[in-house]
Amino acid sequence: MMAPVHAADDASGLALGRKLFKGGAIPACTLCHTLKDADSTGVIGPVLDELKPDAQRVATALRNGVGNMPSYKATLSDDDIRALARYVSKVSGAMQGAAR
Ligand code: HEC
Repeated sequence: MMAPVHAADDASGLALGRKLFKGGAIPACTLCHTLKDADSTGVIGPVLDELKPDAQRVATALRNGVGNMPSYKATLSDDDIRALARYVSKVSGAMQGAAR
């Protein structure tokens, strides 16, 4: 059982992650990635529902970029990166784990 305060933090963190995924991050993740929870159908990058990256993998991709995907280090705060990492890992069905 999670304490209510954690449940609230979790929900608002996920809402922030979803918002960033859909356009808060520039360029938007939706342009290139398919992720069902975000109603996103991009086909340039891997389908995140299938890749199921854990939070650390998402955070690393966002900080360093990977292949044709740009780094978001200059445009997203660390909190934003963590929120996105938690969101993508959670809704894609990856194992949980906090991004550092
Ligand atoms: C311009 C297109 C583009 C955008 C925008 C983009 N990505 Fe990607 N992404 C890619 C491509 C292409 C790859 C595969 C790179 C490779 O493996 O060479 C990728 C890979 C990934 C991976 C897997 C990394 C790994 O370790 O294999 C994750 C996770 C990811 N993207 C998440 C995101 C998130 C979250 C956003 C929004 C903040 C985003 N991407 C925005 C194109 C994009």
